[in-house]
This record gives sequence, C-alpha cells and structure tokens, in this order.
Amino acid sequence: MRHLIDPMDLSVQEIDDLLALAEDIIANHDKYTKVCEGKKLATLFFEPSTRTRLSFEAAMMELGGNVLGFSSADSSSSTKGESVADTVKVVSCYADIIAMRHPKEGAPYLASLKSDAPIINAGDGGHNHPTQTLTDLLTIKREKGHLGDITIGFCGDLKFGRTVHSLIKALSRYDNIQYIMISPEELEIPEYIKEEVFEKKNIAYEQVRTIDEVIDRLDVLYMTRVQRERFFNEADYIRLKDTYILDMPKLKNAKPDLSILHPLPRVNEIAVEVDDDPRACYFRQALNGKYVRMALIMTMLGLTGQ
Ligand code: CP
Repeated sequence: MRHLIDPMDLSVQEIDDLLALAEDIIANHDKYTKVCEGKKLATLFFEPSTRTRLSFEAAMMELGGNVLGFSSADSSSSTKGESVADTVKVVSCYADIIAMRHPKEGAPYLASLKSDAPIINAGDGGHNHPTQTLTDLLTIKREKGHLGDITIGFCGDLKFGRTVHSLIKALSRYDNIQYIMISPEELEIPEYIKEEVFEKKNIAYEQVRTIDEVIDRLDVLYMTRVQRERFFNEADYIRLKDTYILDMPKLKNAKPDLSILHPLPRVNEIAVEVDDDPRACYFRQALNGKYVRMALIMTMLGLTGQ
C-alpha cells in the first residue's frame, strides 16, 4: 500500500503517467464512469477547503464510487480529544482510500503510519499540497505543451504557501526551468527549500520584490494569496496582504502567451478584470484538479479504465 504525502513520493515517470491518464479521462470520460463502483473515498478535512475537498468528492463520484467524511474538525470526534492516529485507524475500516487535510505539518504522514487504507495529503499546514502540485503540473502541461523549458515566477506568500513549496520540489526534476521568486522580504521562500531543493540541485533562482521588473520574461506567473491563517500577528498580515495586485495595467508588458496560475482561493491579488483575459488559467486549473484527482484515485487503488 502506498500513500501520497509529499510530491517527491512520486517519480517523474509516475507523474507523467498520472498526467497522461488525466488527459485520457478528459478526452474519453465515458470510459471511466464505473471504474470505482463499490469503492469509497473518505475526505477528512480538519481545515477549510472548497476546491480540494469538492474536487476529490466529484472525482470519486464521476468514477462511480461513493464518498463519506467531514469538512471541519468541529464536526468530528477530534473535538472530544480523539487523536489523528485513532481517527484514521477507524476511518480506514470504512473507506478504501482517504484524502486528509490538517493545519499541522506532518499530520497526514502520522496518519499514514496508522492507516489501513492509502492516505493522500490534501494539504498539511504550510508544508505540502501534492495534489495541488499535480493540478498545477497538468495545467502547465496543457497550457504550454511541456513541463520543462519555461521561466516561472512565483508571487506573493512564498513563505507559508505550501502549493509553492510542493510545486518547486516537483519542477526541480524537469530541465531548463528559470525560477523567479517575487515576494516581500518577510515572505520569501523558506530556507529549507533554498537549501534542500535549489542549492542541493545547483538550480539558480532569482529573488525580486516587484512583478513589474520581471513580467516581460515570464512564461508562467504563479500568483498566491497572503495567508491570514498562517500569521501569528494580524498587523503583519494587514501590512503585507495587498503587496501584489495583478491587474490589466500590470500585464501591459507580459508575453501574449503568458499563463497565469493561482491555486485559489484568491482575495485581492488578482483583479477580477483579469479573469476575462485568455492568459488567466486559474479556473481551468481548478477544473484540471478534478481530472488529476480522478487519475490519482484510480492509480492508488490499482484500477484501470474499461
Ligand atoms: N487550492 C486549494 O487547496 O483550494 P482549497 O483550499 O479551496 O481546497
């Protein structure tokens, strides 16, 4: 039995196979509508979610399976003091596969040590979000046609943004990617990403403070929200939250084929006027999340299409 806790749990070949399967599901949806008949997915969300939880549930339903679970810690027995380990031990008696989100880094890993069913990390604190990474990789592949040979800018909260950390790790295995980190000093990528990914693999990266100085060079711009829930101090959040607002004037010097990604939810960091620009990929990205999670559920359960 395998779990998915960190994007690096998957080899490049396994990622390529998952993306290929997701693209086949998109092209031949009818082939997959009964693949998970008789199977159950449990979604254990100890932290709020719209896209990840609902796309997992939609994915399982579209595969012909069933779903159970909870959408907040408040509606589970964790409020009575039950441990994560006991929760998953019990839920793995009821479900074939479990997607779990938790505010504490490492909680899905701990769960995987006790679970009798495969655990998928659906986001753990500021650490990892591997299924968002699969979503992002599928989106980049579909928008650009390839995963290497791009200049990508990560913008916003690079310190707490687990989607950024996971995507950098996954992309570090593809060739010829230029990384530009756009953030205020307080929200720079953590030292462990700099040391364990960039420095260990001899990958060059730039750190800049404004979108304007690099927008003309980018093939992909990965915008992120400043995450209020990860700040210890409300005053710091208020000071930093609107540092970057991508609007149409900011895109004046952007490439005509720029791809703008955002894991969502957004707050103010992308003006609504950008949504109508063909370079805005973030709603297509959210849809890709459902297909790649269908591919992941099938693969982790060892199932194939008819
Ligand atoms: N992208 C993402 O993880 O969104 P949710 O928090 O809504 O699941």
